[in-house]
Amino acid sequence: MQRATEALNRTLPDRDVDPLTTARRVVGQPVSRVDGPAKVTGGAAFTADVDLPGMAFASLVPSRIARGRIRRIDVTRAAAAPGVIGVVTHDNAPRMDTPVLMTLTAKGCAFIDVAPLQDDVVRWNGQAVAVVVAESQECADAAAHLVHVEYDADAARTSFGDLQSEAVFPADVLGEPPEITRGDVDGALAGAAFVVDEVYSTPQHHHMAIELHATVARWTPEGKLHVWDSTQALVRTRHSLAHAMGLPEEDVTVTCRAVGGGFGNKTVWDHQLLCVAAARVTGRPVRLALRRKDAFRMTGGRAPSRQRVALGADAAGRLRALVHDSVTGIVHENSPEQVSVPARHLYAADTYRIGQKKVVLDVVPNASMRAPGDSIGSFALESAIDELASRVGLDPIELRRRNEPAVDPTDGTRFSKRHLIEAYRRGAERFGWQERNRVPGGQRDGRWLVGHGTASAFYPYIRMPGGKVRIRITADGRAIVSAAANDMGMGTETVQVQQAAERLGLPIDRVGFEFGDTTLPESPIAAGSAQTASLVITVAAAAEELKKVLLKRVPRRSALYGLKPNDVVYRDGGLRHAGDPSRAATFEELVGEAEYVEAVGSSPMLPLEFMKYSMHGYGAHFCEVRVDAVTGETRVSRWVACIDAGRIINPKTAASQIRGAVIMGVGSALMEEGLVDRRTGRTVNASAAEYHVPVHADVCDIDVIFLDLPDPLTPMGVHGVGEIGIVGVAAAVANAVYNATGVRVRDLPITLDKIF
Ligand code: MOS
Repeated sequence: MQRATEALNRTLPDRDVDPLTTARRVVGQPVSRVDGPAKVTGGAAFTADVDLPGMAFASLVPSRIARGRIRRIDVTRAAAAPGVIGVVTHDNAPRMDTPVLMTLTAKGCAFIDVAPLQDDVVRWNGQAVAVVVAESQECADAAAHLVHVEYDADAARTSFGDLQSEAVFPADVLGEPPEITRGDVDGALAGAAFVVDEVYSTPQHHHMAIELHATVARWTPEGKLHVWDSTQALVRTRHSLAHAMGLPEEDVTVTCRAVGGGFGNKTVWDHQLLCVAAARVTGRPVRLALRRKDAFRMTGGRAPSRQRVALGADAAGRLRALVHDSVTGIVHENSPEQVSVPARHLYAADTYRIGQKKVVLDVVPNASMRAPGDSIGSFALESAIDELASRVGLDPIELRRRNEPAVDPTDGTRFSKRHLIEAYRRGAERFGWQERNRVPGGQRDGRWLVGHGTASAFYPYIRMPGGKVRIRITADGRAIVSAAANDMGMGTETVQVQQAAERLGLPIDRVGFEFGDTTLPESPIAAGSAQTASLVITVAAAAEELKKVLLKRVPRRSALYGLKPNDVVYRDGGLRHAGDPSRAATFEELVGEAEYVEAVGSSPMLPLEFMKYSMHGYGAHFCEVRVDAVTGETRVSRWVACIDAGRIINPKTAASQIRGAVIMGVGSALMEEGLVDRRTGRTVNASAAEYHVPVHADVCDIDVIFLDLPDPLTPMGVHGVGEIGIVGVAAAVANAVYNATGVRVRDLPITLDKIF
């Protein structure tokens, strides 16, 4: 660890903040969202609010078969309908290249692997086969029904459950082989004192962001393109669109100031390309806002999974064998559900086989969805661990303690930090785990059976390379930090103001964060819970560059004259000598007569030494459920989440991230299930009325505790907090339902028909 810390310090002098002290200046304060007033008063402008002069409106015509060809498409009646400006089909669409696909390292962010309307092929039910453009949304929607399409349908693979084993292929895991093994796991399983060997399954899940996907496209007379888009990936969207349209990137601008929730699929799909194409064909700026049913059928969610977990333990509950075999249904290679990742890092086992496979389906491509893979993989793994604890007769926390690894259990690397057992200790104390119901079905409160459950949270530390940040110091001594970053409502603007203020030695009301437009310095995607961590190190790099620029401006008479960047730190609204506080100058003095002084910093590469460390976030969920003894209806009545995600920049916004993730996890545990008609491949419950997510009445108080222990290897000691909170939630609920009723449900969602 010492060596890696030194490597980091070589890469990034980080003396302006001390991640290992508990001193709290700005970072660590529960600052309210700086964008809060605009959001709650309707002042924030979302993409569908963009209103351009001469703007027209688009409506999509979805395909009605899962696979096949368009035999004939007749747009005559639609084109003649009131208010219609034009209809775009594969007959008249501009040529478009496949946009660049989403991967961790590529610059694109598409989940579709062919551009729309380029041929007569239908690839899934719900794919757009035509776009109608009209003077109003109502005219466009009405005319869309008048497009007449005849199809030649082919046999399609739409049902995950019907697939035969010959259709199953290995699935990539980010940076790791599809399957890893050690020792004779089947032999160890056969000889174990206690065995759990079960199959768990999870259904198709859909993103249900409150704000639907929306795009506005405008072409300039010079052939440049400006797109307003509801996205979590501004710069990658520009790259994907420029590539698809054959434009240089500098001819495309993407703007997105406010996003009403994004969980992994506010990225590039057909609709952005269709909007851009419609604007080109009609010569008008065009707005294309998806309806709820379009979002279900034209953008992807979480793929269904089937997972076998087999655990073998000795008499003391120590794992001798761990098997996690999984299959998920996906469309293409680049976005597998990395279901097997938690099993690779959570428990020490003598022997293991941990792997993941996929089947290819004729459905809308799957996308990433909040902790893709980890969330559903942890449902199986953390349910099985709980089953094993019952079988051995151990408290499930004690079972975990006995299987806590000293180093990463599958790659042997040392942990940069790991406080999983401490998270269980603190969470158990807060929850009152000692007073829990100990006999399945043994606690009753009137008509309710009461149960308690626990499970581990887990998420990798990810940092995206390639970002830039500009810091501008104005003549009045304020700082404006700029990056083409994304705020989907998670508090990006607020925490960036905080961390930049701390680094620059300013109070937060003297720092502004400018984001949401690709004309600003290039910034990474907001995904993988990595945006904050990526910006923290890039702001640090920009602050170092800024020191050089500021020091060049130091006049001879100044106490800072002749000092080098390494000699000074940011403090109290300016620079001062690191060892001698009396040698200082304010920003106002340093900027002098200029309007502003600025510098741009680039994100440094992760030091190679980091590859020698296992870097993850951990946590412990505790919940209480009440199951109606007659109907089997389950309500979640209490929740404690204790999270080990490094140093917390803002405990208020971070706790909201965890609460949102727990609510989403409760939805997956009890309600969410995308249903496909296997005859047609059509998602049949494509509405908020039929695809259920928790509403306020379903949500109890969610008590969030952060250990707030810095990771010594990360800048400022921070990790991401966006996704870790959902991992383990469905298992904690399932474990509590078992504790309440004695019934183990291994197939999500845990609906009442599965309980009694
Ligand atoms: Mo997240 S599923 O990486 O937006």
